[in-house]
Amino acid sequence: MASIPQLWQRSLLPPVLDRVMSRAIFAPLRAEATALAQGRVLEIGIGSGLNLGHYPRSLHSVVGVDPSLPLLQRAHRRAAWMAFPVHLCQGWAERLPIADQSVDVVVSTWTLCSVADPAKVLEEVRRVLVPDGLFCFCEHGLSPDPATATWQRRLTPCWKCLAGGCRLDSAHDRLIEAAGFRIARLRAERLIPDPAVLAWHQLGVATIR
Ligand SMILES: C[S@@+](CC[C@H](N)C(=O)[O-])C[C@H]1O[C@@H](n2cnc3c(N)ncnc32)[C@H](O)[C@@H]1O
Repeated sequence: MASIPQLWQRSLLPPVLDRVMSRAIFAPLRAEATALAQGRVLEIGIGSGLNLGHYPRSLHSVVGVDPSLPLLQRAHRRAAWMAFPVHLCQGWAERLPIADQSVDVVVSTWTLCSVADPAKVLEEVRRVLVPDGLFCFCEHGLSPDPATATWQRRLTPCWKCLAGGCRLDSAHDRLIEAAGFRIARLRAERLIPDPAVLAWHQLGVATIR
């Protein structure tokens, strides 16, 4: 029999995530994060496919990778309405089932915070991107306000258990640059009003250095 944490992760968290991530407050951020998508796009941690409706209709294709089957089932339903082909596969961004230099744009929205090994994921993103490819991201992370940052660090162990591995205290710009990217454009600000521990975001575009 499944334990309560297993039941939460497998059955209850996916519909909750879909509901929370569907909030209207995220829609303009999704539109901004996907605006430069063109050609062959890979979305890591595609979840329930909430970015699909924001991509330019002229895309060649989208491949979406996510470990959660219940979220991928929801993404399948959204993919059916798209003007471009969408291929969804169960997998982990730390080991992408994608050939080297075969993708024009990689998109990550609220995913880097949840992966187990962000450095490995960014190494994979670099591997699959063409040399002049773009990495477009929108992630919540470590606040520059020391009091908020302290709370983010305190709450992360508990929050990770509740929210599918999500960390509150990741410094995504540092991780992205350490992985060999140059951040070409960055909005680092409170992009949602509250709660404070989730409000600070980094929305940007990086290229391979
Ligand atoms: C907060 S949700 C965001 C979902 C989606 N990107 C969005 O914008 O709505 C985090 C997503 O990361 C996925 N995820 C967690 N670990 C992952 C990994 N190692 N590789 C790829 N995706 C992962 C989860 O299954 C979930 O779909």
